[in-house]
Parts: sequence; C-alpha cells; structure tokens
Amino acid sequence: MGYIRKATEKLERFKNRHDTRILAIETSCDETACAVVRNGREALSNVISTQIETHKKYGGVVPEIASRKHIELIDYVVDEALVGAKTHLGDIDAIAVTMGPGLVGALLVGVSHAKAMAFALEVPLAGVHHIEGHICANYIQHRDLEPPFVCLVASGGHSHLVHVKGYGQYKILGRTRDDAAGEAFDKVARALGLGYPGGPLVEKEAQKGDPGAVAFPRTYLEPGSLDFSFSGLKTAVLNHLNVCRQRGEAVNTADVAASFQSAVIEVLVDKTIMAAKKCSTDTVVLAGGVASNGRLRSEFESRCADEGFLLKYPSKLLCTDNAAMIGATGYYRLRRGLMSTMTLNAVASMEIDSY
Ligand code: KG4
Ligand code: ZN
Repeated sequence: MGYIRKATEKLERFKNRHDTRILAIETSCDETACAVVRNGREALSNVISTQIETHKKYGGVVPEIASRKHIELIDYVVDEALVGAKTHLGDIDAIAVTMGPGLVGALLVGVSHAKAMAFALEVPLAGVHHIEGHICANYIQHRDLEPPFVCLVASGGHSHLVHVKGYGQYKILGRTRDDAAGEAFDKVARALGLGYPGGPLVEKEAQKGDPGAVAFPRTYLEPGSLDFSFSGLKTAVLNHLNVCRQRGEAVNTADVAASFQSAVIEVLVDKTIMAAKKCSTDTVVLAGGVASNGRLRSEFESRCADEGFLLKYPSKLLCTDNAAMIGATGYYRLRRGLMSTMTLNAVASMEIDSY
C-alpha cells in the first residue's frame, strides 16, 4: 500500500486516539534536538545537543558548520530520545519536524530525517513552524493552558506579539521592524566583549550593574503601534562605547549591560500589556530564548500582577530551542488533520499564520 494511503489511515486513527506518541525533530539553528511527546502535552524525553562550543570561536552561528554538525549528530540524538522515552520505533504514531523559518541547510537535515522516518514507519508527518513551536512550548509546561491568550515570542530571530485565538489560530499583532530582541542582546554582548551567545552573558553582567546608569532610548514607534524596533538602542550602546573610548574613559560594562537590558525589557513589557488589553484577554504568555531572562520574568510578574493578568512562561530549557515544543505543535496540527507529504521542504522564511 502506498505511503500516503497508509499515513492517511493512521492520521484518522490518530485524531481519535487518547494515547499518542510523536517523535519530533528540531534543527533550525545550532541545536540538534529530538523529543518524544505524549498526547501533545508530556515530554517523555527532550534531548538537546548544542553546538554552542563549536560556533563560539566565530562569535556566532556559521550556517555551513551548523548543517554538518546536524548531520553528524542527528542519529545519536534520535536514538537517545527514543531510549530516554522508553519508546520503540514501532510505538511512534507520527513524526513532527521544524520546516522553517531558520537556516535552510540546517533545517534540511531535520526535514530529510523526519521524512525518511515517516516513510519507513508509514506514519503521518507534520511540518511545523518554529515560532509556533515556541508558543506551544507552553502547552508542555502548563498542561491546563488553553487558548485564547496573548503571547510575546522573543528569540534570536524574531520578536512577535501574537494573539493566540485557538489551536493553530494566530493573529500577528506586532513584530520587529529591524533587529529581534535576542539579536540585540547578541550584538551588544559582542560589542561589550562578553562573547556568544549574548543573552545569558549580558544578563549575568547586568546583575552587577545599575539599570539607571545610562539613559538608553526606548523606541515605541507610532502611538498604539505593537511593532518593535531595537536597532536604535543597539546603535546607542555602540555610540556610548565609542564616546567613552574616545574620551579615554573606562567603560563600566556591568552598568551598560544593565541599562541596555532594562531598556529592552521595558518596551517588551509595555507593548505586551498593551496587546493583552487590546485583545481583552486575561492571560499573558511568554516564549522564546529571551523569555529565559530572569529580569524579564520578574518585570512581567510584577506588571501582570498590578494589571490583573495571569502570566505563564516555560522553563528555561523549554524557552530556548528544543524538540518537545515541535512535538506539541505537530500534535495539534495532526489533530486538525493537517498532514505534510513527502514533498515537504525546508523554508528559510515563512509566516506563522499561512502554512
Ligand atoms: O529561541 P532561541 O533559542 O533561538 C531562536 O529561535 O532564535 O533564542 C535564542 C536567543 C539568542 O539571541 C539568545 O541570546 C537569547 O535568545 N537569550 C537570551 C537569554 N537566553 C537566551 N536573551 C536574554 N537573556 C537570556 N537569559
Ligand atoms: Zn527558536
């Protein structure tokens, strides 16, 4: 029997079953990750092999090296995820994989592996949007969380405000017009000589500094706009460093890190609260690598408490790239009958609300 017929039959069963296991793969950037997810909500395993040490010496991710590393690692990571979940290949009901956005060569490794597995096991395949994955990480962390809610997705490549109206129903309320929040952290870290990846290093440095030391700009754009812009802030940090150097003044790295971090966080919090009010939702959700920032979390905690919003965010492990979030997303797509075929391809740039 042909693959499509068999997978379609299994998809119909999947939609009605109460005990399902998805094997999910994520290779969009510099983490090779695989997870086994039960019923879209429980990560039986969540294996992440990071390439940070490899890319560190170049000051950022080198796409070609990332692809090669994924090829070297993927078999081991998949095996470890199966063993960790005490699950045999024959118990896998479906395969989910990040199809984009991301580095196309890196994505292709995961997509090819996932297609081969789905074909060999004759199970349905779900191509998943990476940012949708970040949002759905919250379904793993908070098993009772249901849409609707407003979600801030702040990662290395994206800063989005999304109204999550239902499973798979997204309205983009705002997005960055230039640098993503995480990208700004990474660029400022490089300028401060802190290294890569920037976010956690800036956060650590900022703990020793005064957030009010340097008055960096907060960019709000037009009144009522829910878009972001962080390139002006990044330039202001670079200018501040140049002026200090030209005057022969010592740079207080901790103060600059703390002042920069506080400027980013203030705008992210203000705009997210604005979005939640606009959508009349009572729940604010955070996602993406930047959401693992402790200061960002505590600022959100206090603002949400003041304004009467319920706040949810994932564990640090589920904030940054992982495959459990892709399994959760794939689960809800397959439940809605959205199955990918063997023509599934990696897509470097794609929209969350139109795939
Ligand atoms: O979501 P993610 O793992 O990958 C992308 O999809 O981009 O996010 C990575 C980004 C990087 O820019 C990193 O510097 C940032 O998240 N990040 C942080 C923190 N941890 C990671 N930014 C601020 N504070 C952190 N603690
Ligand atoms: Zn990500």
